[in-house]
Amino acid sequence: MTEKRLKLYIETYGCQMNVADSEVVASILQQNNYELTAKAGEAGLILVNTCSVRENAEQRVKARLENYMSLKKKNKDLLIGVIGCMAERMKEKLLEEEPVVDLIAGPDAYRELPELIRIASTGQKGINTMLSVEETYGDIRPVRYDSNGVTAFVSIMRGCDNYCAYCVVPYTRGRERSRDPESVLREVDEAFKSGNREVTLLGQNVNSYRWEDKSRVTDFADLLELTAQVSPLLRIRFSTSHPKDLPDKVLRIIAGNANICRSIHLPVQSGSTSVLERMRRGYTRESYLERISALRFFIPEVSLSTDIITGFCGETNEEHQQTLSLLRKVGFDFAFMFKYSERPGTFAAENFPDDVPEEIKTSRLNEIIKLQNSISLKIKKQDIGRIYEVLIEGVSKRSDQFLMGRTSQNKVAVFPAGNHKPGEYVNVRTLSVSSATLLAEIINH
Ligand code: 5AD
Ligand code: SF4
Repeated sequence: MTEKRLKLYIETYGCQMNVADSEVVASILQQNNYELTAKAGEAGLILVNTCSVRENAEQRVKARLENYMSLKKKNKDLLIGVIGCMAERMKEKLLEEEPVVDLIAGPDAYRELPELIRIASTGQKGINTMLSVEETYGDIRPVRYDSNGVTAFVSIMRGCDNYCAYCVVPYTRGRERSRDPESVLREVDEAFKSGNREVTLLGQNVNSYRWEDKSRVTDFADLLELTAQVSPLLRIRFSTSHPKDLPDKVLRIIAGNANICRSIHLPVQSGSTSVLERMRRGYTRESYLERISALRFFIPEVSLSTDIITGFCGETNEEHQQTLSLLRKVGFDFAFMFKYSERPGTFAAENFPDDVPEEIKTSRLNEIIKLQNSISLKIKKQDIGRIYEVLIEGVSKRSDQFLMGRTSQNKVAVFPAGNHKPGEYVNVRTLSVSSATLLAEIINH
């Protein structure tokens, strides 16, 4: 007799690593009699994959869990699990604060989910927040349940050993470890063979990737080159890079392989060397700017994006001005900009007062956003008339007569569909730009 499959709904918050992890979780549970559903209302198990990087990320999840209370009233057998960074950070406390939660699994405990579910279904609480020094889920084939069929994530390393003063990640995701290159290449190859035309190699510090075999070392540059060789039709991206691990060797490999995308996300966090020192970032304003010059030297057509934290402990107005000046100097295409949010247990929380008043954080953030928006728009306008090769990802949100895709520089282009399909490469000419997209037309090759 075949058992009826149980319905699983997964909701994912936070970074791309979490998206990739949810695909691993889906795979583990599919092998344990679950099938995915896109409707929370019909699920027997809801898993919320969470982020702890800022306090408001956690508040959003808590609000969501309150909502799930009503589903639970309708279906008394419904199980609700919290997985990922917030599960790891809060552990049992989450069960005390949120009675709706039946089970908790940290980022290294996903293989234990079937057992945790079994425990939870007997009415007890299932919890596993053990971190591992070796788990990479390298043997698990992710189920890409929310994919467009063209772009895929491949996780190549996990965890973080940097301990930046503000950051909770080393505590929620544990020690840095890399996945063996053979399993990475196998997954990249399978993604290509099943129709994907772009993979993004993922890791908290993706460029710190390092695998040592008896006789051979594979570093990030080596792995990048190996993945680029899978097919010239497969684009390679990677995220997120740390400025301290970006040697010329990586830049040369990018420059030498046309299918490695001309776009790099390089979080700077602050433009002030004294703030970077308090943040324990391991580089200075000058050394960051030197890496930007090197990037532009090796890859002249590269586009750059970054992350900024404003209002870190003790940040003076002069230090804030340094961030504005760095933004002007570099000219990032795009930036994610945040107010500092103190995270319990981090070096900063234990050692520095969170002393920049909220209204100053807000006004500095607004100033940063205003400046960056004007820089982004200025750079975009230079694209008018330019021709780019675009990988088509799908239909445009605005109209099914239009397709959307990305340039190698990670710029989103929207253009009339013609008879083209997702997964194809086309050349487009930019006609006009809006804040987020290039409006373009397909040109003949
Ligand atoms: N407060 C605000 N932003 C943070 N980030 C990480 N930790 C914090 C924090 N405590 C930002 C950094 C990082 C991005 C993923 O989130 O900019 O690069
Ligand atoms: Fe959030 Fe960081 Fe965890 Fe990703 S690794 S989910 S950004 S806390």
